[in-house]
Parts: sequence; structure tokens; C-alpha cells
Amino acid sequence: MPKLDRDIARDWIERWDRQQEEMLPDREDRFTALIDAVEEGTGRPDPLVLDVGCGPGSLAVRLLGRLPRATVIGIDADPVSLTLGRAAYRDVPGLRFTDLDLRVPGWSAQLGLTPRNPITPRNPKTRAPDVAVSTTALHWLPEPDLRALYAELASVLRPGGLLLDGDHFAVDAKESPTLARLDLALRQREDQRRFPGGHPESWGAWWEAAAADPALADHVAERERRHVDAGHHGTESTQLATHVEALKAAGFAEVGTLWQRGDNRLLCAVLPAS
Ligand SMILES: C[S@@+](CC[C@H](N)C(=O)[O-])C[C@H]1O[C@@H](n2cnc3c(N)ncnc32)[C@H](O)[C@@H]1O
Repeated sequence: MPKLDRDIARDWIERWDRQQEEMLPDREDRFTALIDAVEEGTGRPDPLVLDVGCGPGSLAVRLLGRLPRATVIGIDADPVSLTLGRAAYRDVPGLRFTDLDLRVPGWSAQLGLTPRNPITPRNPKTRAPDVAVSTTALHWLPEPDLRALYAELASVLRPGGLLLDGDHFAVDAKESPTLARLDLALRQREDQRRFPGGHPESWGAWWEAAAADPALADHVAERERRHVDAGHHGTESTQLATHVEALKAAGFAEVGTLWQRGDNRLLCAVLPAS
């Protein structure tokens, strides 16, 4: 398999970002708000950050661009994204990608994290992670896996630690049918206005293009073998209420929306300080 060089990996990630923006016109604004919340919420210039479902590292590199003394541990189970991120950003200090499936309980122990015990981050002080961040990823998990993930995060983050999750969160159609219908209708109208001739590159088209690149083809095949997206179709957790309830059950004390456009929200959950 041909080696993937840094510039080609960066081109692929740029194409990834464009494709993601088709569904998320405010993706950059959401990244900015999330990083503001990391800065304000952790209160330190060198936070230890877990990026869960990091993909090829789009959020991680933006965060490190603003907070160069941070340490970001990117976690994903997709060999394509991990390969791209590692090739593109191998020279970015403070960034590490790890290949872990968040559906498998005990993933945090693989990182050397144990409940409320420190790990050794890039700086010499040892401490538990200050914050877990995520974008457009956690809705992939079926509810039982999501609940287990939130519980595991709550056990390893420091007291007062945060979860900041930017994702689509739908209102409950049974409880608020009109709001749910309008929510969807507004999104569809905006999409039609932005792309009257259809999307330039769909999610599926991006993956087909990646599979056709000899430097990525084996990784795409491995991704298919792993069924990383098994929960993404039909059993995913799209409801806001599911996330809020699961976060509270996991022990987060405050849960709420910090930023929003339509169903695109930045959800914030805060652990008790002690
Ligand atoms: C739509 S992508 C978003 C990636 C990135 N956060 C971004 O905003 O560009 C969703 C990511 O979640 C990851 N993901 C989904 N389920 C996962 C799991 N069980 N374990 C690890 N990563 C997972 C996928 O592999 C994928 O990279």
C-alpha cells in the first residue's frame, strides 16, 4: 500500500471538513464556542482533553491552535480517520490519536486512566482529564452504549470536569410534535436554499472516493470489517432527552445547552466539584 504523506492527508481532511459543513453550516462557529467553553470552563491554559469520536482531528487541531499548551487525546475506532489524522498532524505537539472502540467498556483503562487516578500527560504534573469534548459523534452510539460511555467519562474526569458535546439533538416528537416537525422543516428548507442543485459531495461519496485512493483502500476495508458505524443506522441516540437523562444518571450535576442553531447544539455537562 502506498504511504500517505502529510500534504495528501491534509487535503483529505480539508475535503472531510467541506463534506461535514454541508450538513453543518455552523460547524466552525460550534468549534469556536466549544473551545471558548474549554478555556473558560477548565480555567487553565494547559487542559488535559479527551476528544471522543475525534475523526481525523478537526476539533483537536483547532483546540491546540488556540490552546497550544493543552494535551488532546483523540479517541476513535475508525482506521481511516486515525490514519489521516496521524499522517497530517504527526508534528502537532500535544496531540495523540488512540484506536479504541467507545462501545467497549473499559476503554479508559487502555489509556492508563483509572477512576479518579491520574495519568501522566505531556506536562510533568499528573492529573485526571479536565474535559471530554466531542463533535458529531456520540449520536452514533445506541442508548445502552451511550449510557455506559457517560458513566465511564464521569468516573475518570476530574471533580468539576466537563463534557462538551456538539451534535444534532432532536426534540421529542411525542412530547412536542409541532416543534419536532418545524425543526426538521427549517433544516430541510435551509439545506435546499444552500444546495438547490443537491450536495456537492455526500457522506457516501466521500467514503467512495477514499476507498478509491490506494493509500486508504486497506483502511476503508478494515473500517468495514470493524462495523464502526453499526449503531449509526436505526439505533443511534438522536434525542436530546436521552442524552440529558443519561448524563444525569451518570452523575453529572448540571446539564444544559450552551450554544444552539436549530438542532445543532453544544451540550455541556458538569461534574460535581467534589
Ligand atoms: C461524523 S464523524 C465526526 C468526527 C469528528 N469529531 C468531526 O467532528 O469531524 C463521527 C466519528 O465518531 C466515531 N465513532 C463512532 N462510533 C464510535 C465508537 N464506538 N468508538 C470510537 N469512535 C466512534 C467515528 O468513527 C467517526 O470518526
